[in-house]
Amino acid sequence: MKRYGGTGEMSLRKRWFAWVYHTFVSRTGTPDFANTLTREVRAPLLAQARGQVLEIGAGDGANLPFYPSQTQVTLLEPNRYLLAYLRDRWPDVRCTVIGGLRGWGEQLPFAEGQFDTVVATHVLCSVRDQEQVLAEIKRVLCPGGKFLFLEHVAAPSRSLTFVVQRVLNPAWSALGDGCHLTRDTGATIRAAGFRSVEVRSFRAPYPSFVSPHIVGVAVV
Ligand SMILES: C[S@@+](CC[C@H](N)C(=O)[O-])C[C@H]1O[C@@H](n2cnc3c(N)ncnc32)[C@H](O)[C@@H]1O
Repeated sequence: MKRYGGTGEMSLRKRWFAWVYHTFVSRTGTPDFANTLTREVRAPLLAQARGQVLEIGAGDGANLPFYPSQTQVTLLEPNRYLLAYLRDRWPDVRCTVIGGLRGWGEQLPFAEGQFDTVVATHVLCSVRDQEQVLAEIKRVLCPGGKFLFLEHVAAPSRSLTFVVQRVLNPAWSALGDGCHLTRDTGATIRAAGFRSVEVRSFRAPYPSFVSPHIVGVAVV
């Protein structure tokens, strides 16, 4: 079996990405309710979390303030520098934070059926193997458990935006810690064998090449 992680992951590039993400993108993980993506999409999605929650690719903890107070949240993040920012946020939140672990979605260090909810926001764009991550998510969810997701995705394949995404993708991926602009993540989730999948496509208030988004819930 392929192993994830290792010393190569401790690079200066990871540290740089963590600082840029924390400082400029998530704005120190503080929810910005003036942002329609936060107010109209992220907050209502995360309000559906129940019971034992696993968030993969938790970044610097931008989702933490949105989990309902009765949830117990375990956070998984491969970038040790983001994990450090994330730990700073724990005291401020309503949910109970069980802990934060360094780890990858492709190899979840948890037992079968351990979680009621798994969350990934803007993560499947960056993982190395989407199918394997989805198989792992299904494995750790209990029967009836929910996978809540929010992702930026590829534009329709005949559109000008898709051409722009393909041109920009190599540079974007190099600068963005492996993030891809051209993934049809909705189709991959639909094909992953969940019992039901609800997906809504919409345009987020970002530049056109990162504007196509999906949000949804998949049930095992
Ligand atoms: C764009 S950030 C999003 C962070 C956070 N989920 C949010 O919504 O602000 C992408 C995150 O995915 C993480 N990531 C990348 N590859 C991953 C993998 N194979 N498994 C789990 N997380 C991964 C990155 O370290 C980073 O924290």
